[in-house]
Amino acid sequence: MIKIILMISLFFFTLSVADEQKSKTETGATVGANLSAELKNGKLKAQTICSACHGLDGQAASGGNSVIIPNITAQHKDYLIARLKAYKSDKIQHPQMTVIAKMLSEQDIENVSEWYSRIKVRIFDPNLVLAKPSQ
Ligand code: HEC
Repeated sequence: MIKIILMISLFFFTLSVADEQKSKTETGATVGANLSAELKNGKLKAQTICSACHGLDGQAASGGNSVIIPNITAQHKDYLIARLKAYKSDKIQHPQMTVIAKMLSEQDIENVSEWYSRIKVRIFDPNLVLAKPSQ
């Protein structure tokens, strides 16, 4: 009887250790479960349409024309929405962005704006960085 109780408790102990290890490895924004529906859909759109130019992380670093493609990481959500709606309604015209914005629904605009605005960056003041070259 004691043996059975021991075996059962060992079984549950193993399960809880495995669970703990699983949750330790699953950190960061790549964990789908951490994302709201808006973020998940925004990420998907960003991956399929925007990332070619703005990067999935909003940093336009894909070579070639990337210097004339704005970085949109951590931009205010309302600003991104306003710009995308302005392209969509022809208030601003741009050979690429007008076409792209017209492919987006109002909900898509919300979602991609949520995605790019929620990516956070650390700001480095060049004065401070230059004053402390060793860091
Ligand atoms: C073919 C390349 C390309 C793709 C794909 C693309 N963009 Fe752009 N995007 C640009 C360029 C170039 C500009 C600068 C346009 C201008 O000067 O008005 C821009 C501008 C923007 C701006 C305005 C930024 C600002 O600071 O005013 C936003 C917001 C934006 N893009 C979001 C998106 C989103 C969201 C997607 C995906 C749905 C996307 N873009 C896909 C090239 C692209």
